[in-house]
Formats: sequence, structure tokens, C-alpha cells
Amino acid sequence: MPLIPYPLIRPFLFGFDAEHAHELTLASIARLQNTPAQCLWAQARISDPVTVAGLKFPNRIGLAAGLDKNGRCIDGLGAMGFGFIEVGTVTPKAQPGNDKPRMFRLPAADALINRLGFNNEGLASFVANVRRARSFRAGGGLVGLNIGKNAATPIENAADDYLIGLEGVFPHADYITVNISSPNTKNLRALQSDEALDALLSRLQERKLALEAATGGTRKVPMFVKIAPDLDEEQVSVIAATLKANGIDGVIATNTTISREAVQGQPHADEAGGLSGRPVFEASNRVIRLLRAALGVGYPIIGVGGVLSGADARAKLSAGADLVQLYTGLIYKGPGLVSDCARAMAGAR
Ligand SMILES: Cc1cc2nc3c(=O)[nH]c(=O)nc-3n(C[C@H](O)[C@H](O)[C@H](O)COP(=O)(O)O)c2cc1C
Repeated sequence: MPLIPYPLIRPFLFGFDAEHAHELTLASIARLQNTPAQCLWAQARISDPVTVAGLKFPNRIGLAAGLDKNGRCIDGLGAMGFGFIEVGTVTPKAQPGNDKPRMFRLPAADALINRLGFNNEGLASFVANVRRARSFRAGGGLVGLNIGKNAATPIENAADDYLIGLEGVFPHADYITVNISSPNTKNLRALQSDEALDALLSRLQERKLALEAATGGTRKVPMFVKIAPDLDEEQVSVIAATLKANGIDGVIATNTTISREAVQGQPHADEAGGLSGRPVFEASNRVIRLLRAALGVGYPIIGVGGVLSGADARAKLSAGADLVQLYTGLIYKGPGLVSDCARAMAGAR
């Protein structure tokens, strides 16, 4: 158990606007990680080793991308008991993101809406931060590095940004995630459609194989693609076929949703951006089920979206996921959710 119970912390944090609370928390973790004060939020990691995409994960629960966009809190966040931490989305150049306010809580729905727009310090600073992380990796935790494109890069040149990202993160990643599903970068999600996806993934895969070959085959880095929940059955099946055809190692389902059906009438429901948390749980499970049906047994699927309890995490496994990530659940439930999920999934499949 963390030294400070989250029910005492949450009202304090919820007294600030959502992004301010986020910054305060990350700044505190960045400062206190790897010091004795880490016991304020640290918990023992539940051991449930599982091999997915050739990687040995210490357990099945991971932190989803976007909470630590600059990769500066890997050790502190890892100490919450995660088996893996995904950081980013990083873009080649630093960029400020959209105007504030751009992050909103919908507490009645255990949800958030964000339109941050890949605010981050850029690839060089990201890689330096990732290289500084020590204790989480030393203890067997895995780190995924999530790449995207700058807002100013025209969508026709998106592949150039992803290739820069791939080259930059390759030496430092346990796995790489290609994020083509944020609703907050103009036209980004169009990269999920047939020819655009095929063209992007074939270039990325070719470069990744070249990078692996340049290590003399000593270093293999699985590459995953992260997709949206707002896709119909036909779109999911085309994506599944394209992933397989290009030899992509796995898929992360899903990002936030642009649908507002589940939160209609609630304060902030009409804010533009991606909705996360409980309202995306079913939509993400639906995509996971479709992916598993299309991809068959054995193809790595990481399920994410609306996990707020151990039972939710198990439901992702039942839908077809091999591993599970969370973000919004951590804001509403605190670090205890990490061990709840790890425990609920231990030995489940
Ligand atoms: C504030 C916020 C920022 C996010 N930023 C990113 C991001 O930079 N890259 C990414 O791939 N996903 C990002 N996500 C999506 C999450 O990783 C996750 O896919 C989504 O929120 C659904 O999971 P959840 O319901 O557990 O939050 C973000 C989510 C939130 C709430």
C-alpha cells in the first residue's frame, strides 16, 4: 500500500484544474522518484510474468501513453507496480500543443476530455530523459516509446516525422508505438485508412528492419500501432490485414473517442477533443474483439480504454487482449488500481 491513501490526495488534486493537477503531480514525481520519498506512492509489483511479442513483461498492466509525454517520470510511475510504462507521444520537434484550457474532468462518468495536441519537449529531450531512467528497467520493467508527428508537418509528409521518431527512439525502446489515432492533430486519424496506412507502415517497417539489421541482429524492437475506437467493422478488418501484411508486431486498442453519446448533457461534454475513461470501455472492447477475430490467436493485442477496476482489466483479456494499459483510471482511482488490475489478471489466461 502507498503511504498516502489516494482518497486523501484526490480532493486536493481535484481542487485544481485538470492540467494544473497533472503538472503538479508529475513535477512532484519527477523530483521525488528514486528517493526515500517514493514510498509515498510506491507499491510492490505483482509478479505475473508473460511473454508477448518476444518481450518478457513482469505483469500484464501498463501505463498508457500521454501521461508522461516527455518520459521524465519512468522510475517514479513504474514504482506504482506497473509491468510496463509507455511514454510519449513524442514529436521530432518540441511543440506547445493547443491553447489552454484543454483538459477537462467529467467526474460523474469517471472520464476526461483532452485536446492537448501532443504538447511535448521534442525528441532530443525525450531520449535524454528515457536514458536517465534506471530503477524501473533494472527491476525488469519494460518501456514503450510512442511516436507521432508535429502539427506543422503536412499530413502528406507524416511518414518523414515518424521515421525521424523511429530512428531516434529505436536504440532506447523495449517497444515502439506508432500513434495514428489521436483526435487532436489535424488529419492524423486519416493515416488509419487503407492506402495511407499501408504506405506509412511499409516505410516504417522497412526502416525498422534496417535498424535491426545494423545491430547485427542483436537487437529486436517490436513495433505496435495504436488505433482509435471510432472505427467500423470493415475499417478494423482492413487495418488488421494491413498490420499483418506489413509484419507489424502488435496493435494497441484503443485511443480516446470522439463520440459523446455516453456523456451527453454532462458538464464539459461538448468540449472538443478525445474522451477517455469509463465511456470508452465498451467501445474499446468492441474493437479488441473485432481485432482478435480478424488477427487470430497469438497476435499481440494491448487493450486500453476505461479500465477502472480489476474486473475491467480482466474483461479486456476476455475480449482478446494479451496486456492492458490504463490512464484515466489512475486519475480517478489512484495507484492502488495498478495492483488491483495486476492481481485480477494474474494467471487469468
Ligand atoms: C490527457 C490525455 C492525454 C493523452 N495523450 C496521449 C498521447 O500523447 N499519445 C497516445 O497514444 N495516447 C494518448 N492518450 C490516450 C491514452 O493513452 C488512452 O489510449 C486513452 O485515454 C484510453 O485509456 P483510458 O480510458 O484508460 O484513459 C491520452 C489520454 C489522455 C486522457
